[in-house]
Amino acid sequence: MACAVGGCAGCVVETVTTQGPAMKRVCVDGPVFDALQVASLK
Ligand code: FES
Repeated sequence: MACAVGGCAGCVVETVTTQGPAMKRVCVDGPVFDALQVASLK
């Protein structure tokens, strides 16, 4: 994790939402995510 304040996008993960795919920043949108929304687990 580079900046930890949402500025660098170095911590982005792909998730799936009801409105389609979405990129989330772990440092400001997480760090906890619903496991079923993490795209790599599908
Ligand atoms: S660590 Fe920079 S955006 Fe998350």
